[in-house]
Amino acid sequence: MLSTIARFSVKPSRMASRALVSTWSNVPEGPPDAILGVTEAFKKDSSPKKMNLGVGAYRDDNGKPYVLSCVKKAEKILLDKSLDKEYAGITGVPEFNKLAGALAYGDDSNVIQDNRLAITQSISGTGALRIGASFLNEFYPHAKNIIVPNPTWGNHIPIMKNSGLNLEKYTYFDKNTNGLNIDGMLEDIRKAPKNTIVLLHACAHNPTGVDPTQEQWNQIAEVVKERDHFVFFDMAYQGFASGDCNRDAYALRKFVDEGHQVVLSQSFAKNMGLYGERVGSFSVVCADANERARVDSQLKILIRPMYSNPPIHGARLVSTVLGNQELKQEWLGEVKSMADRIITMRDKLRGHLENDFGSKKPWNHITDQIGMFCYSGLKPEQVDKLKDEWHVYLTRDGRISMAGVSSGNVKYLAEAIHNVTKD
Ligand SMILES: Cc1ncc(COP(=O)(O)O)c(C=O)c1O
Repeated sequence: MLSTIARFSVKPSRMASRALVSTWSNVPEGPPDAILGVTEAFKKDSSPKKMNLGVGAYRDDNGKPYVLSCVKKAEKILLDKSLDKEYAGITGVPEFNKLAGALAYGDDSNVIQDNRLAITQSISGTGALRIGASFLNEFYPHAKNIIVPNPTWGNHIPIMKNSGLNLEKYTYFDKNTNGLNIDGMLEDIRKAPKNTIVLLHACAHNPTGVDPTQEQWNQIAEVVKERDHFVFFDMAYQGFASGDCNRDAYALRKFVDEGHQVVLSQSFAKNMGLYGERVGSFSVVCADANERARVDSQLKILIRPMYSNPPIHGARLVSTVLGNQELKQEWLGEVKSMADRIITMRDKLRGHLENDFGSKKPWNHITDQIGMFCYSGLKPEQVDKLKDEWHVYLTRDGRISMAGVSSGNVKYLAEAIHNVTKD
């Protein structure tokens, strides 16, 4: 170091010419993230009419980010406790793991009663998926093939691939009906090589807003069993589909009841509005307590070099809410009211399109689909027009985050959509 400085002071021109070839000169510029890139473009728009319908984050009816009342109360409880900031263990806050598992699998689930659920706190849903994919890559005893719905949440693809799994897609969405292509889905799952890992969105499918019915879930469970497949559930929206957390856990619980040894990624970003707190969990249904202990030990070995241990605040918030009957009831009510507000916006958007603007296109899928997103069927050029002429921002696959629509802008959105689709 000393000699470099000395050389610089003696021969500055030589130093300058060396600096011309940067170590990073061969790094190409990559494309912006499909979803977060929309927010970047939105921020640059100065129009007062602009709408960001890209990112899947709930907004209240004034278009503002929403901190749940039960979370505010939990914050206060935690503040009053004046807790220390010591590290959590590798798998996080134990009380959180217990309550998160019970919320997903059900309080009376025998998986929990028999102490055979290996569960770890994670860096929200994304982190859970990443832990899960790495765990499967290391320990799944068959070919590391995973199939995901077409389409799926964009990040699933690099998460699975970067973790070393071979990824293919199975039929999911039917463009003609804007609904589920259940026959195509069952056929593709049946055709996949035995022991394939099947990624299923537990509820409120992102981006399509289209979920199987309970009857269709039963059919899927049968085909999965017939082919000895293995299921990886992603549950990022428990409560957001129907407004009822138990109902939204139907598929997960059905598979477990049928004896499937599933793994699960769970997130509290959306249903508790804890986006930036990054709180979620990854869990593995094991055969017995002994197996659970072995899996637990390997999860720790996997996580320790990744990030050592997770942040504590969000997990404490979740366990304060879920562990207090009064706050939990309040939370269940707030989840329902978020889900209901979105349903109201779906009704209004469709109503304005059909009644106020007289659109003759079919818009039933706006109200048929559920959860945070509407897979509108808008073409990429129409999405571009929405942005350029109407200051309305969404991903180019036509996905509308309904959570960003409010009483104040829903009519404007309908007018914009009608204008770009009428010819
Ligand atoms: C289907 C799905 N899975 C997982 C996630 C992960 O979200 P987070 O990491 O914010 O919990 C999302 C977020 O949009 C999602 O839509």
